[in-house]
Amino acid sequence: MRRPFIAANWKMNKTIPEALDFMHAFLPSVAGVQDADIAIAPPFTSLFAIAERFVGTNVSLAAQNVFYEEKGAFTGEVSPVMLKDAGCDFVITGHSERRQYFHETDEIVNRKTKLSRKHGLGVIFCIGETLAERESGKTFSVLAAQLAAGLKGVDPANLVVAYEPIWAIGTGKTATTAQAQEAQAFIRKELRSLYGDAADSFRILYGGSVTPENIDGLMACPDVDGALAGGASLTAGSFEKIVKFTRGITP
Ligand code: PGA
Repeated sequence: MRRPFIAANWKMNKTIPEALDFMHAFLPSVAGVQDADIAIAPPFTSLFAIAERFVGTNVSLAAQNVFYEEKGAFTGEVSPVMLKDAGCDFVITGHSERRQYFHETDEIVNRKTKLSRKHGLGVIFCIGETLAERESGKTFSVLAAQLAAGLKGVDPANLVVAYEPIWAIGTGKTATTAQAQEAQAFIRKELRSLYGDAADSFRILYGGSVTPENIDGLMACPDVDGALAGGASLTAGSFEKIVKFTRGITP
């Protein structure tokens, strides 16, 4: 049995007071949840300000991005060492918005992922196909290539994979449970070729318009081990419902 992993990606949302307000409501509301890992990725500016709130709770702090060098003349960048220092346990790498708007290649994602693991950060490593790739039958080849290049030489410990079909992100158009299951079973098969039997213990998250309404169906899929929620994680009540999805449903 894989332990569910439910993560929030706030993207470029919330000031420090807004982040603190969220924690005030959210942390006590999920304090009793003992059968899932929970993580929240606020913007960089809030990390240190809210880190103290996470100490002794069942929720981990995550960053949305990281640079692939430890220190030096890289204006505007933040290293894995700095993220650890600010109180982070996890970092998201390979998010499609980073790939799309900031031209991150598989090689860059790989360097970020490797250096983060070297410094003891857990990594939520994201992959996913565009609508055009899906419609031209390339979904599996795209996912296989992103996995092989992005995870080259990456230590599998504390690594979580997130399948986020780009056409489902922020669009309200969630993948069907059949589409999520099919892609995530494929991802597990690829992980087996990269990591052998360890693939069975990998958490593979689904991301893309996850809501309190569709989380139960997604979590019932055998290869969906969690969720990465964007828009629906911005209010404490909504993210609480996602964390408290109905356990034990079979597809
Ligand atoms: P969304 O974003 O839930 O708003 O679609 C998910 C993500 O990009 O991680």
